[in-house]
Amino acid sequence: MALTRNKSEQWFKRAEIVLPGGVSSPVRAFGAVGGTPPVIRWAKGTQVIDENGHKYLDFVGSWGPLILGHAHPAVVESIQRASAQGTSYGAPTSIEIKLAEEVVDSYPGIEQVRFVSSGTEAVMSAVRLARGVTGRDIIVKFSGCYHGHSDGLLVAAGSGLTTFGKPSSDGVPEDFTRLTIVLPLDDTEALLKLFKEKGDCIAAVIIEPVPANNGLLLQRPQFLEVLRAQCTKYEVLLIFDEVISGFRLGRGGAAEHYGVIPDLATFGKVIGGGMPVGAFAGPEATMKHLAPAGGVYQAGTLSGNPVAMAAGLTTLSLLKSENGWHALEQLGLYLESTLGPVLAESPMPAKLCRLGSLFWIAWLTNDLPRSAEAINPNVGKTYSPIFHELLAQGVALAPSAYEVGFLSLAHTQQDIDRLGETLATALKKVC
Ligand SMILES: Cc1ncc(COP(=O)(O)O)c(C=O)c1O
Repeated sequence: MALTRNKSEQWFKRAEIVLPGGVSSPVRAFGAVGGTPPVIRWAKGTQVIDENGHKYLDFVGSWGPLILGHAHPAVVESIQRASAQGTSYGAPTSIEIKLAEEVVDSYPGIEQVRFVSSGTEAVMSAVRLARGVTGRDIIVKFSGCYHGHSDGLLVAAGSGLTTFGKPSSDGVPEDFTRLTIVLPLDDTEALLKLFKEKGDCIAAVIIEPVPANNGLLLQRPQFLEVLRAQCTKYEVLLIFDEVISGFRLGRGGAAEHYGVIPDLATFGKVIGGGMPVGAFAGPEATMKHLAPAGGVYQAGTLSGNPVAMAAGLTTLSLLKSENGWHALEQLGLYLESTLGPVLAESPMPAKLCRLGSLFWIAWLTNDLPRSAEAINPNVGKTYSPIFHELLAQGVALAPSAYEVGFLSLAHTQQDIDRLGETLATALKKVC
């Protein structure tokens, strides 16, 4: 039976009048799956509750930050305590120093960190720093990797592999993306060719070492190793965008997981425990080029905000003291053993892709894709009715076939059983 969402619908009608598309960030609008999103009133643990009072078992986790679950009591308490002492000072604080020490201690190869307020800002600043340090202009990204919405990174591949990119958004001048080259993931040949032709002009290569914004496109470790070696050879800075993978895969993110150490790393999501935080980090020799020590300008009124720092520090401390990454891996294994058989019996081919607490269902294939180009272009149409059937049964996956799911420490095996059963029923019903 369809859920009555009249209150959500009324709110969303009001939203569409005053917010473009009814939302503050595009994917929330359900454009990829159709329909109206539930308007959320509150959340706790694994449950989000909409304006009609319907509860959803949530596997979105605010798109990644909520690794401890919604409204974790220790995080809420740290936010309350910090905010009671003032919400912002525009001056150094002990809490930001403690969080910086924790980040430096956790992630391989970094000595200093600069806090900002979003992943977009972290990446934009890291790219500027790389250009300032190397004195070179070109940056390289991979198709299927998302690095936030700064102009130079909203780029689609050009027509040839080593041609400069084209804007993938209105409002981005072609001149801004001429300095960005887009390569396919998992293509060592294209990578070597580009470095041979242009290696000496490239400031930085940026990659999501665990690409998780266009499906979950797990890379062969050798690909990351070749990339590392080429960057070293041509003195190009390698930037790992760990906005999703940082502090989620483990204390040292994807760098630790693959044993490949970047020159700069960017963070967001988990590092802020659900508050607006981003960061970028590297060795002191690189970071000292940032203002005020160096000539690369970067600043922010609310950077290192004490309330956000408190949420981040509490989240990272709990993950460490409770060995959260081990528990998340156990949950991930359980997810694999639960969803694997469901998908094996699915009337259409589909396969679960998982790394730690990140998961994605690759629809219409028995092979896990490693590049954006390898994903079946019909997945969107296929996923939409499955998504809506799950939502109607109170289970929330992301509203797009290309978005990953997130497990949190609040999830239990019973929650995963429920996802498996609901998915099995939905597949029978809609296929
Ligand atoms: C890998 C990656 N980099 C950067 C960003 C941008 O972060 P934000 O949305 O906080 O600006 C995202 C956001 O999803 C991301 O997944």
